[in-house]
Amino acid sequence: MAETAEAILEVRDLHKHYPLTQGVLFKKQVGAVKAVDGVDFDLAAGETLGIVGESGCGKSTVAKMLVNLERPTSGAIRYKGEDLTKLSAKALKAVRRNIQMVFQDPYTSLNPRMTVGDIIGEPYEIHPEVAPKGDRRRRVQELLDVVGLNPEYINRYPHQFSGGQRQRIGIARGLALRPEVIVADEPVSALDVSVQAQVVNLLERLQSEFDLSYVFIAHDLSIVRHISDRVGVMYLGRIVEIGTDAEIYEHPTHPYTQALLSAVPVPDPEARAHRERIILTGDVPSPANIPSGCRFRTRCWKAQERCALEVPLLAVPAAFRHADSPARHDSACHFAEEKQVVPPEEPDHGPAGPHGGARLYRDPDHP
Ligand SMILES: Nc1ncnc2c1ncn2[C@@H]1O[C@H](COP(=O)(O)OP(=O)(O)OP(=O)(O)O)[C@@H](O)[C@H]1O
Ligand code: SF4
Ligand SMILES: [Mg+2]
Repeated sequence: MAETAEAILEVRDLHKHYPLTQGVLFKKQVGAVKAVDGVDFDLAAGETLGIVGESGCGKSTVAKMLVNLERPTSGAIRYKGEDLTKLSAKALKAVRRNIQMVFQDPYTSLNPRMTVGDIIGEPYEIHPEVAPKGDRRRRVQELLDVVGLNPEYINRYPHQFSGGQRQRIGIARGLALRPEVIVADEPVSALDVSVQAQVVNLLERLQSEFDLSYVFIAHDLSIVRHISDRVGVMYLGRIVEIGTDAEIYEHPTHPYTQALLSAVPVPDPEARAHRERIILTGDVPSPANIPSGCRFRTRCWKAQERCALEVPLLAVPAAFRHADSPARHDSACHFAEEKQVVPPEEPDHGPAGPHGGARLYRDPDHP
């Protein structure tokens, strides 16, 4: 696996297997749901790592392990070199302050009976050392201001806010303990498209204002490209390809990434007409019954005998090891080949691209 400079978070061979049991009185384990089955990645300080993949591939389970809402079955999560899976509960509580989560659904993740002030200030109950009691109201008002909400709204309840405003409240709460890493699990998926861009812009602004590193999880590849420096593509509990956003979007070498990209809507009709759609056949296998060898082989149009026998490792494929090209990035495929599915962005127009062309994501605030 390629190393990233100054990793703030290092995830190694991370697994989460949920036991499948039979029997009522004497429960017997008969198998396991391998929700996460060997995930590796680094998160560099100040960067945004996007994680994409179809529903059920294990994205949220990874997120929950990063913030200790789930204990890994095995593997390591190192924060500044310290393995969180090995810490005592007390030591873990202190370190966890630095890694906070923003949840998907702003409608269900905020307690309807609590005021916005109590919701945002709740983390101070667990970590009173961060803000003395007398100072909390001021801090919460500051946080409201930082996320673009009126500080006078402090005594209002979640139902008095729109979806986008509620997600701002969730973000303010995530910032309360001044974390260094934010794990955002589908933070804009539940929002209207017009509001999505505003929340993405807010996250980008906060990143530079507070030196944050992000793990940004989404199934929408366009938004992930817009916000991410690097992108990891997950399939059935593993990352199958990882690289910079240009490497993944413009020079994908894994057939699964190529198939996912071929389904991304491209606004420009000309670009759309020239690209090839790759339609995957068959369903995603159950994580309780993962295929041997390459886990993607039951849906891969390139599968050969070797694919059933040998697990492809996430590494730079031999064909590109000595190449001086963006195809030289980690890809877990025995027969990795570069295939451009999405037309390249024009370099002069920033992350969202020019009018049309390869632009995948429209940000109404920055047309
Ligand atoms: N507590 C649990 N017990 C058993 N299986 C679980 C549990 N939590 C998740 N799973 C299973 O693990 C797999 C991964 O789930 P996860 O929620 O991480 O996927 P996801 O990529 O976040 O999907 P989505 O895009 O729908 O949010 C799924 O098959 C899910 O059914
Ligand atoms: S290893 Fe084989 S089955 Fe897996 S993605 Fe590559 S070609 Fe397809
Ligand atoms: Mg999820």
